[in-house]
Amino acid sequence: MRFLFRAKTIDSIVAEERRGGELKRTLGPVDLILLGVGAIVGAGIFALVGTAAAGDALRPGAGPALVVSFLLTGLACTLTALCYAELAALVPISGSAYTYAYATLGEVIAWIIGWDLILEYAVGNIAVAVSWSGYFCELLRGCGVEFPRWLASDLRTALHTPEILDQAPRMFGVPIVFNLPAVAIVTLLTGVLLVGIRESAWFNAVMVAIKLAVLGLFVVCGLFYVRPENWQPFAPNGWPGIQAGAAVVFFAFIGFDAVSTTAEECRRPSRDLPIGILGSLAVCTVIYVVVAAVLTGMVPWTQLNTAEPLSVAMRVAQLDWAAGIVAFGSVVAHTAVLLVFQLGQPRILMSMSRDGLLPPVFSRVHPRFRTPYFATLVTGVFVAGGAALASLEEMADLCNIGTLSAFLIVCLGILVLRRRDPHRERPFRTPWVPVIPLLGVVACLWLLAGLPYLAWARFAVWLAVGLACYAVYGQRRSRLADSKRGGDSSKA
Ligand code: ALA
Repeated sequence: MRFLFRAKTIDSIVAEERRGGELKRTLGPVDLILLGVGAIVGAGIFALVGTAAAGDALRPGAGPALVVSFLLTGLACTLTALCYAELAALVPISGSAYTYAYATLGEVIAWIIGWDLILEYAVGNIAVAVSWSGYFCELLRGCGVEFPRWLASDLRTALHTPEILDQAPRMFGVPIVFNLPAVAIVTLLTGVLLVGIRESAWFNAVMVAIKLAVLGLFVVCGLFYVRPENWQPFAPNGWPGIQAGAAVVFFAFIGFDAVSTTAEECRRPSRDLPIGILGSLAVCTVIYVVVAAVLTGMVPWTQLNTAEPLSVAMRVAQLDWAAGIVAFGSVVAHTAVLLVFQLGQPRILMSMSRDGLLPPVFSRVHPRFRTPYFATLVTGVFVAGGAALASLEEMADLCNIGTLSAFLIVCLGILVLRRRDPHRERPFRTPWVPVIPLLGVVACLWLLAGLPYLAWARFAVWLAVGLACYAVYGQRRSRLADSKRGGDSSKA
């Protein structure tokens, strides 16, 4: 059983990075904060916030106490981010929580984390692409163009909506339904990322500026329409509502860790990664709490279960022009999130491939563009394929459960590493260890408990498939195992 817990040393990880050194080092601290905000503010605040406030068939709503949900989730993410920042600075190489786990908890846990991160990045991006499509169609509608519903619908909605099935063309009697805008945006961004990160970081910075301006506009306009009676009762479903709301809005915070996956492209990873992670999280928590307070003050919480709650709030206030601008900003925000996650996933796959846990082709770097082109293409095909058919809430729940599991292991990793290697120089130290990591573990468990059981069932299947893949491929091809057997560990 010892192979299950074989671990890399941090020194070997850093040495590998030096040997590789293939990606361009172009990112500084401001780029990283922008990358973080670009990854964080998206479908969560623009779309899922409605589900969190009003609830749905699977969970109670938080009501105006959504503000508390946001604060608690922000706190939970800060605890995890403090752990993330220490590990990201200590192990400054692409791969995020996967790499940290390899150095702390051993190979099989690292594999499980890498597998969970596919839920965070790729499945999360399926959710964002589906939400992007909804807002894109809303924007077109505002311009007087009605997109055919059979060409912009997920399968579950289509199967429950007879008029979509009636409109759809048929092939051999089977109605053709899929989400064309979602597929198109993923395809477009995959093309951008194949060309290189410099262009993408610039593109991201412009989109971040636009989405912050739009949220600012929402708050400034909305403040004049807040009716304090909408905040009563404050927590209509008590703690269960606040907890379920917190678990949903966790999606809105996902992304701060994406910063760490660009370690190989940072100019000074030890200093800049902690700044990027903590800075972007702080900015977003403040924005979310303010937006949630204004939103629930403008519209009674029971009316918020809609896919575009911020636009709805503007329309309720009869600010149709602002509703249009918010819809536009939302499309931009979603695009920025898609971009960062499509950027992060291939780099994780590349790390896993370098370790021999995935086939070598995943770590091939394009000779001219210096990007991991094969992993980028595979990610694009996976996300576009999922976005063609899947629904937003299902994918968001699955993404949340996978991400929380990965975060939980990061918090544990800090404790293990401080014990095993206490004297190593740490460019960034998590304060108050073991209190902060332990509180991080408790916070992740509390959020996990707020997710519906269906998400748990799907997660169990996903994990089982992942472990089967590890048993069949990674466990045998692992370069670490190879080097421990005395094999040539320099082969790709
Ligand atoms: N935090 C990202 C979003 O809300 C995933 O879209």
